[in-house]
Amino acid sequence: MSEQKVYPVDPAFAAKAHVDAAAYQAMYEQSINDPDAFWGEQGKRLDWFKPYTKVKNTTFDPHNVDIKWYEDGELNVAYNCLDRHLETRGDQVAIIWEGDDPGEDEKITYRDLYERVCRFANALKAKGVQKGDVVTLYMPMIPEAAVAMLACARIGAVHSIVFGGFSPEALAARIEGAKSKVVVTSNYSLRGGKAVPLKENVDKALDNHEAGKLIDTVFVVKRVDKDVAWNDNRDVWFDEMVANEPAECPAESMNAEAPLFILYTSGSTGAPKGLEHTTGGYLVYASMTHEAIFDYHEGDVYWCTADVGWVTGHSYIIYGPLANGATTLMFEGVPSYPDNSRFGRVIEKHKVNQFYTAPTAIRALMQQGEDVLGDADLSSLKLLGSVGEPINPEAWTWYHRVFGQGKCPIVDTWWQTETGGILIVPLPGATPAKPGSASRPFFGVQPALLDNEGNELEGEAEGSLVIKDSWPGQSRSIWGDHERFIQTYFSSFKGVYTTGDGARRDEDGYYWITGRVDDVINVSGHRMGTAEVESALVAHPAVAEAAVVGYPHDLKGQGIYVYVTLQTGYEQSDELMKELRGWVRQEIGPIASPDLIQFAPSMPKTRSGKIMRRILRKIAEDDFGALGDTSTLADPSVVDDLIENRMNRK
Ligand code: WT7
Repeated sequence: MSEQKVYPVDPAFAAKAHVDAAAYQAMYEQSINDPDAFWGEQGKRLDWFKPYTKVKNTTFDPHNVDIKWYEDGELNVAYNCLDRHLETRGDQVAIIWEGDDPGEDEKITYRDLYERVCRFANALKAKGVQKGDVVTLYMPMIPEAAVAMLACARIGAVHSIVFGGFSPEALAARIEGAKSKVVVTSNYSLRGGKAVPLKENVDKALDNHEAGKLIDTVFVVKRVDKDVAWNDNRDVWFDEMVANEPAECPAESMNAEAPLFILYTSGSTGAPKGLEHTTGGYLVYASMTHEAIFDYHEGDVYWCTADVGWVTGHSYIIYGPLANGATTLMFEGVPSYPDNSRFGRVIEKHKVNQFYTAPTAIRALMQQGEDVLGDADLSSLKLLGSVGEPINPEAWTWYHRVFGQGKCPIVDTWWQTETGGILIVPLPGATPAKPGSASRPFFGVQPALLDNEGNELEGEAEGSLVIKDSWPGQSRSIWGDHERFIQTYFSSFKGVYTTGDGARRDEDGYYWITGRVDDVINVSGHRMGTAEVESALVAHPAVAEAAVVGYPHDLKGQGIYVYVTLQTGYEQSDELMKELRGWVRQEIGPIASPDLIQFAPSMPKTRSGKIMRRILRKIAEDDFGALGDTSTLADPSVVDDLIENRMNRK
């Protein structure tokens, strides 16, 4: 690893950057030694209706995890993302919307966006939505998604976005978990030229589940000129509802610790958890990280290719950029439509300066060859970003060469739904990059590596990645279940936030994320709980037992490998394999679709009946030479059958 190529900071870039090496050092030290002074100062990047007098008040004590930032301050997120920009940049473009069809786009100024948000905020109120109510968004990447988020924020409602790729079942569970009263959706979504029936999915979620009893209004955006089934008691057209609403709506004064949104994500065990993010600290952190990490300057056009259904879309398409008065690009489509040069075409068309995407997309394009972007002019690009999973050095250097033309710094941003914003990253004007390493902590972030006993490791080491103290963007709780929040993140090791990732620290103090250390897998940068996939599988009549593990996948990073033991009376077949795959897609969504399914007559279990996942993981990785100790297995011969019939052979 010491021979690893290092990409030094370009002095010309550093000279103009918000943060250079000296500033990083000084600011980092202050952020750790005097967080109140540091974050007290940073809080001023927002407009407060009532200024805070306190800054940090946090404890990770497992008996009483309590995280508060700017706790006596009051502000409004929509006000900070819209109103305060009107005087100076009302006519500046806030959102460039690029449709699925390359012929379709729209430029929305700060003033337009402000008016659209006010109208929809009034429409929400007209339907009885009040401060603290939860509004579920199940939407494609269209401007109305941004409008709906900001409208909720404006009136103090809490949004819960459910990614449009999730199934009706998954949507229903999230509506029920959040006790939401209102859904915002569109009749269809458009991706890669195909119309996906979002409204029909909402109907299924509401008609077949308890969720139907909670929801009294469904706002429907007419994205595609097609009819959909209609329930007059519940459904209203978005456009009709906003048409007669005034373009003014007061921004509620919210306490800094009032909830802004809930976002569901998968964990090791149980159903997905609704992580809660609050108002003041979250926005300070999203704003500061967006500016410093992407080195955003006035007038730049910034593009993050994520979906608003994930946290990246929340913090780095909407809240961070708009708080900073940026021009943020929102893309409805996919990188391969109408062809694989699409990302390049969009960069050229809108003269994008900062481009932020995921390793899985980079690898898919890389497979298409060096000239995949055609003759697209990429010269506007100043910086590239990566997020979602470790970026392998080959993909990093390809990204640097083909997108970055050998000159753009790459920020490999490590963070999580729980962290609200980026925690580990090479700042582009300060930190030399090592391909594959997320490198160094952002301001206020104190990473540490622990061994299994919880001892902190010093110097070069590998262990569980934890964070020793709070930062303002951190999630405050799991919606309605603070005990589970404590249990999940603050109980394995005392007094620290446990990330669930493993990491290595090298001789220069750089962090290299090695992947999850829990039963979570990362498929194309999307988090999947193995327990969730297992429980979907055992709900199928043919399945007696299921075990799910990850395995290395060239494009997706990790693929989903499933071991299934059938109920007596069922025979293994290709048909059944197909059926099980379809079943999981239907229960959770296409992102959970198993890549490989192995029918296993029995699972490797300890004498006490516990499935030994370590062994299943090794076999799925096609790395069974060193299975470790199998002497505790009830029946060691099970392993031979599993190896013989393994699905992943290199
Ligand atoms: C998990 C969080 C953060 C937004 C997208 C995913 C993995 C994320 C990186 C990176 C290595 C990464 C981690 C983390 N991850 N970014 N730059 N390098 N790993 O959010 O769905 O909450 O998943 O994604 O394993 O724990 P998420």
